[in-house]
Amino acid sequence: MRPSVSFYLTFVLCLCLGLLCLLFVGCWSSHWRGGFSWDGSALQFNWHPVLMVSGLLVLYGNAAVVYRVPFTWEQRKHVWKLVHAGLMLLALLLSVLGLCAVFDFHRGLNIPHLYSLHSWVGICTVVLFTVQWVLGLAGLLLPCSPPWFRRSLKPLHVWIGKAVLILSVTSCISGINEKLLLSLNGSGNGSEPYSSLPVEAKFANFLGILIVAFGLVVFGILSKSEWQRPQTDERVHILLNENNT
Ligand code: HEM
Repeated sequence: MRPSVSFYLTFVLCLCLGLLCLLFVGCWSSHWRGGFSWDGSALQFNWHPVLMVSGLLVLYGNAAVVYRVPFTWEQRKHVWKLVHAGLMLLALLLSVLGLCAVFDFHRGLNIPHLYSLHSWVGICTVVLFTVQWVLGLAGLLLPCSPPWFRRSLKPLHVWIGKAVLILSVTSCISGINEKLLLSLNGSGNGSEPYSSLPVEAKFANFLGILIVAFGLVVFGILSKSEWQRPQTDERVHILLNENNT
């Protein structure tokens, strides 16, 4: 199979899994957790999973692989750098809004901040992502950055990019687990215990599986060297070959 065909099949799988993650997290929050509002109540909390999954997982994952889409190779790299940085900025803003939702909800109900393992891993993920975005802007996007800085930053940028993806998947599944343990405690609010595996728990567990699958597909795309945007000389060669076949 030609690399571009196998890439597009994997990319479609990545898009479908991303859409399913969005659909499942939205459905869980609205159908089982009562929907959304911004008033410090439990309904405000519901923005947290939705914004984190949309921003730090689905949008982040797709923004990370834009350079791999073969049709972008014929266009100027600088344009796609701007698209990559713009999508990443949007992902960062959605994640910060998602954090505001949960911090504000905790403040309103006097729940302590940052006590759980989920919150520690989560906050490190967002801090690392912010550092990555600022360094990427300064070192790889701005034309005035010195070549030595650009060269030494590139491998670090690639490594941190994958690390943020892994941490984001970890934060999402630990958050789902914590939410289910906190809400499905079977203590008189009409909810069945998590251990009896009610439909909500099955649904949210399945969301966790979709999130892991999405992360693995994005990681797979990022790890495959044949799907990397070729250097200029290589690119001309590939385009000529594709036109001749
Ligand atoms: C990349 C994704 C995520 C990140 C970075 C993240 C980050 C955080 C942070 C920093 C807190 C602490 C807020 C505070 O102390 O006031 C928190 C709380 C919480 N998050 Fe997430 N979260 C993510 C996804 C999710 C998801 C998908 C869920 C699923 C429902 C979730 C459920 C919770 C729950 C239940 C809390 C409150 C309890 C606690 O503080 O641990 N999170 N999250």
